[in-house]
Amino acid sequence: MEVYSTINERWRLCTLACFIGCIILICSLNYNTSKNVSVLQSMAISVTSSHEFSSPNVQLSQPSNYNENMNGTIKGECNIFDGKWVYSPQSSPPYSGLQCPFLSDQVSCKRNGRPGFEYENWSWEAKECDIPRLNGRDMLERLRGKRVIIVGDSLNRNQWESLACLLYSAVPPSRTRVNVKSAVYKVFRAKDYKCSVEFYWSPFLVQLEVNYNKANDSRILRLDTLSTSSRKWKGADIMVFNTGHWWVHPGKIKAWDLFQHNGKLFEEMEIELAFEMAMKTWAHWVDTEVDTSKSRVFFRSISPEHKEKPTCYNRTQPIMDESYVAIFPESIIEIVKRTIGGMRTPVRYLNITKLSQYRADAHPSIYARKRGKLLITNQKKQQEYYSDCSHWCLPGVPDTWNRLLYASMVLHNLSNSTSHIDL
Ligand SMILES: *[C@@H]1O[C@H](CO)[C@@H](O)[C@H](O)[C@H]1NC(C)=O
Ligand SMILES: *[C@@H]1O[C@H](CO)[C@@H](O)[C@H](O)[C@H]1NC(C)=O
Ligand SMILES: *[C@@H]1O[C@H](CO)[C@@H](O)[C@H](O)[C@H]1NC(C)=O
Ligand SMILES: *[C@@H]1O[C@H](CO)[C@@H](O)[C@H](O)[C@H]1NC(C)=O
Ligand SMILES: *[C@@H]1O[C@H](CO)[C@@H](O)[C@H](O)[C@H]1NC(C)=O
Ligand SMILES: *[C@@H]1O[C@H](CO)[C@@H](O)[C@H](O)[C@H]1NC(C)=O
Ligand SMILES: *[C@@H]1O[C@H](CO)[C@@H](O)[C@H](O)[C@H]1NC(C)=O
Repeated sequence: MEVYSTINERWRLCTLACFIGCIILICSLNYNTSKNVSVLQSMAISVTSSHEFSSPNVQLSQPSNYNENMNGTIKGECNIFDGKWVYSPQSSPPYSGLQCPFLSDQVSCKRNGRPGFEYENWSWEAKECDIPRLNGRDMLERLRGKRVIIVGDSLNRNQWESLACLLYSAVPPSRTRVNVKSAVYKVFRAKDYKCSVEFYWSPFLVQLEVNYNKANDSRILRLDTLSTSSRKWKGADIMVFNTGHWWVHPGKIKAWDLFQHNGKLFEEMEIELAFEMAMKTWAHWVDTEVDTSKSRVFFRSISPEHKEKPTCYNRTQPIMDESYVAIFPESIIEIVKRTIGGMRTPVRYLNITKLSQYRADAHPSIYARKRGKLLITNQKKQQEYYSDCSHWCLPGVPDTWNRLLYASMVLHNLSNSTSHIDL
């Protein structure tokens, strides 16, 4: 009898467990389906409103005949983000890392002892057209009297360092002023051109409010309030934004404790929802504060990492497999796409994700030196901590991002604040 009852007991437990399991399974299936539906809906939205989302394409014909379609190609134009890396040993990098005195330790791979510099000799070539090389003096001429701001996380700092070195090497050092003392603000000035290129550190674009209090530290990510430095962004002629990495980086210690939206605090919120709210806050700021007759706005897409297979460790060659896909959450990219598509201001999407994905060979890996505390991720994983598979050696891949930024200026004829053709 006793044996029977324990078996019965087990059976009951087992049946109960199965029942609960089934419910969970059904729930999660439902959840997935509804998610898929919303992804499809968002794609539909982005297709109908893909107008402003088009890539800065190379214009081979008058902008009036453009006819867009899903793949982002405009009729009669070529997509500068669709192409391949070509090894060109005859072409040396646009500046020497050793000669750009303010290049940070973090990305000075050569100075940090990285052997082999083949990674500097690859050139990005579009499938259907020639992309102009970045000509520092010409770019400065186009930027005469203008202010460029690059706003975002450390990957945008990487891009700022690249652009600052590119322009620095085009003029005599005495005709420049560079200030890199602050971790959150950096500036390059070319005196003879009265232009500046500034970096503002703002990894979420919205405000992260950190209240240090002995009893109760709190870090509140204010989804409805733009970064405090946004007051200084106003009036810039060229703005390059990015965000994304700090929302989702695997392994990155979460930088906030609570979300705030419309006066309410939230401990938990789906990351996609929070991200979309923040993007809307940014989009609203751009739509109300940016004078479109004067300023151009760019959004740089996600910069891929190579922390998981294939990793950046010991890599000397780019990934040549064109079918290679990254693991970055598609939902985040969709949200960016949808947000930009719904804006009044034309925002050019600097779609560097795919082209950078091939370049697993171009990260600092163990030839990185870190000083800033902000970059500390998980000290327990020493290997991962000392290897950097997310930033890029300089000279290197961000020079190509800037070349595409420049190409977009040249091809849309940004020679004059009053003479720009817009999509
Ligand atoms: C994009 O689509 C157009 C027409 O739908 C096609 O002609 C073109 O080849 C496509 N381009 C790419 C890069 O797939
Ligand atoms: C970015 O460019 C790549 C390569 O051309 C393309 O596959 C991808 O769809 C583009 N992404 C977006 C969001 O347009
Ligand atoms: C690659 O770039 C370097 C400069 O870093 C240059 O000196 C060299 O000639 C180029 N070619 C090869 C094969 O390294
Ligand atoms: C800590 O701060 C948060 C946010 O300001 C607040 O909601 C919470 O009640 C505080 N906790 C304590 C113990 O004071
Ligand atoms: C990288 O190379 C070093 C030395 O050549 C070797 O000890 C190490 O195991 C390699 N790491 C990987 C991940 O291949
Ligand atoms: C760009 O604009 C300048 C001045 O408006 C003009 O002289 C030049 O021809 C234009 N270039 C192109 C490629 O349209
Ligand atoms: C720029 O615009 C001004 C008028 O605002 C004009 O006088 C000047 O010629 C233009 N420069 C170029 C290079 O187009």
